[in-house]
Amino acid sequence: MAKKNSIKRIAVLTSGGDAPGMNACIRAIVRRGAACKCGIVGVRRGYAGLLERDTVILDPRTVANIIQRGGTFLETARCEEMKTAEGIKKAIWNLHQENIEGLITIGGDGTFRGAMALVDASDIQLIGIPGTIDNDIYGTDYAIGFDTAINTALNAIDKIRDTAGSLQRPFFIEVMGKDRGFIALDVGIAGGADSILIPETKTKIEELCSNMERNFRKGKRSCIVVVAEGDEAGGVFAIAQQVWERLKRDYRVCVLGHIQRGGSPTARDRILASKLGAAAVDALIEGKSGYMIGELNGEIALTPLKETCERKKELDNNLLQLMAVLAT
Ligand code: F6P
Repeated sequence: MAKKNSIKRIAVLTSGGDAPGMNACIRAIVRRGAACKCGIVGVRRGYAGLLERDTVILDPRTVANIIQRGGTFLETARCEEMKTAEGIKKAIWNLHQENIEGLITIGGDGTFRGAMALVDASDIQLIGIPGTIDNDIYGTDYAIGFDTAINTALNAIDKIRDTAGSLQRPFFIEVMGKDRGFIALDVGIAGGADSILIPETKTKIEELCSNMERNFRKGKRSCIVVVAEGDEAGGVFAIAQQVWERLKRDYRVCVLGHIQRGGSPTARDRILASKLGAAAVDALIEGKSGYMIGELNGEIALTPLKETCERKKELDNNLLQLMAVLAT
């Protein structure tokens, strides 16, 4: 059992791709910290800012009016130097210079790898919070930003469906997810897609073509194919081209891209971010370190950072099967 300790100064940083809800999470950390008499320091631009000691004192007033804003007001970065032993040493040195006893890192798998290296090489207490629209982190049902991203993508697909139906055209829509198909699967189901192509399942072009033709023969007026950015068949343009070569049907491609990363967070993302932010402060105060704070079945759950990096989050197979039934 971890004991209560007297941690007095906690730093927070956001790293990697930003995700809507990160601001709500920082706000919760700062305000929970203040309630527990812990000083909170913000590190700007993720690990890059940590290596440059780019820090700012955060008090409850400095995080006013950010709960509704997308992005991260602390800014973020992808930092190659944190992958080196020198970088880790410098980061630990800077944390000590700033009298930081605990660090909260908000981000995805790259963020947690850096965090693990810090835990292994120092006495700094560390808690990770999952913040990535990709939702591909083991140990949490949802990562901060996913709900907003899928609603943004869905909104776009609903609009595309109007024009797709009017001109009876197949649309190939690429959504984010460089390694995994979580966004594509949820958006595909919610958007009534005819097919969902994701890295986890093999894309069969012949099968895709015959499904499309069958659906048009049955009287469908449009065809929406949702493609995850990381699908193994070579990307949305290559897939669309291969279909065209077989069916010779006029088609359009739409890449939703970084639009999915922006915008005001949904209520669900704000609530999740608030819960995880406050729970991360509590975990540090209880003396815990080396964990990610997530939510599983509605309950706060701690998973060792090592596990979040090594284990693969499973896709919901029921959704995949449902997809096949509903797209007929
Ligand atoms: O990691 C989240 C993510 O949205 C991926 O799905 C996408 O491939 C990547 O970020 C793109 O990020 P950037 O253009 O910022 O490198």
